[in-house]
Amino acid sequence: GAEPLVLGIETSCDETGIGIVRGRTLLSNTIASSMDEHARYGGVVPEVAARAHLEALEPALRQALAEADVSLADLDAVAVTSGPGLAGALMVGVGAAKALAVSLDKPLYAVNHLVGHIAADILDADAEPLEFPTVALLVSGGHTSLLLVRDLTGDVELLGETMDDAAGEAFDKIARILGLPYPGGPEIDRAAAGGDGGVPGDPDAIRFPRGLSRASDLAAHRYDFSFSGLKTAVARWIEQREAAGEEVPIADVAASFREAVVDVLVTKALAACKDYDVPRLLLGGGVIANRRLREVALARAADAGVTVRIPPLSLCTDNGAMIAALAAELIASGRAPSTMEFGADSTLP
Ligand code: KG4
Ligand code: ZN
Repeated sequence: GAEPLVLGIETSCDETGIGIVRGRTLLSNTIASSMDEHARYGGVVPEVAARAHLEALEPALRQALAEADVSLADLDAVAVTSGPGLAGALMVGVGAAKALAVSLDKPLYAVNHLVGHIAADILDADAEPLEFPTVALLVSGGHTSLLLVRDLTGDVELLGETMDDAAGEAFDKIARILGLPYPGGPEIDRAAAGGDGGVPGDPDAIRFPRGLSRASDLAAHRYDFSFSGLKTAVARWIEQREAAGEEVPIADVAASFREAVVDVLVTKALAACKDYDVPRLLLGGGVIANRRLREVALARAADAGVTVRIPPLSLCTDNGAMIAALAAELIASGRAPSTMEFGADSTLP
């Protein structure tokens, strides 16, 4: 028969994502972000995000249906992110998904947000099919996770994750310290490149710490990340400069900070590839927009004989299409739909 037409709903953080796929084919991917509303707080405010989802969901749904040129009655299934993420934000999507599934009498699939990020790669029509096993590094404002994916529909092992801030969050916090606007990632990139016509920063100007990278840390946290020590180190370095009445070399600080984050992300991801003898690395999450991260990952992976996959950025950031894509894979694998008992699980592993 025809491949299933699936609607995916994603509301785990600040993006209201509604996506529609037919099997592995992307039909529409509507994203409404409340990022601007969080800008003045320097980070995502859960209550603000939840309210924004409530407002954005219905128009995003209509737009996604119109772009895919389908109606609700055509759908074969509804999928939704049930976690991990912000509890209140997740509940908006889960409530909407349940209401749709019940009223349309269609099966409902509750899916894991992180696995959804990996499934996004399936929708990249220009790429060869994703091969397994693969190591996946997911880096965004909400998560920093390293996974070993043997099978998207069942065997996904969490190798490690951040013990404190997410990588994107670290970018946002350092940007704030440097007096740059939110979101900080693109701003740090710009500052590291010298801003408007300035001299590019030197990534080796300041040796900032690489979290959980000492031999003593590696024993228990080989694939885990920590960015809070880095944040403190950067803040202290700037304070000392200012206390001495010296100018803060923003481009050098931005480039050196970025290098510390990128170095530890790539080092640990490639260590996982080596340890598990998996010559494939999939990157996902909004921080993948970072040019230096792509550059270093591609160069060092090539040296290690590892192939790197980077889906288009529109599929890397939080979106509903990846949730629909994962559900379509689950359906194809014969998985039974979720029962209605599930809720929003903010700490879903
Ligand atoms: O996946 P995403 O769009 O959404 C959520 O995490 O909800 O990721 C957003 C995060 C923000 O923390 C932002 O600062 C970071 O990704 N980001 C970047 C860059 N572009 C966005 N971080 C580093 N470099 C970038 N170029
Ligand atoms: Zn995400």
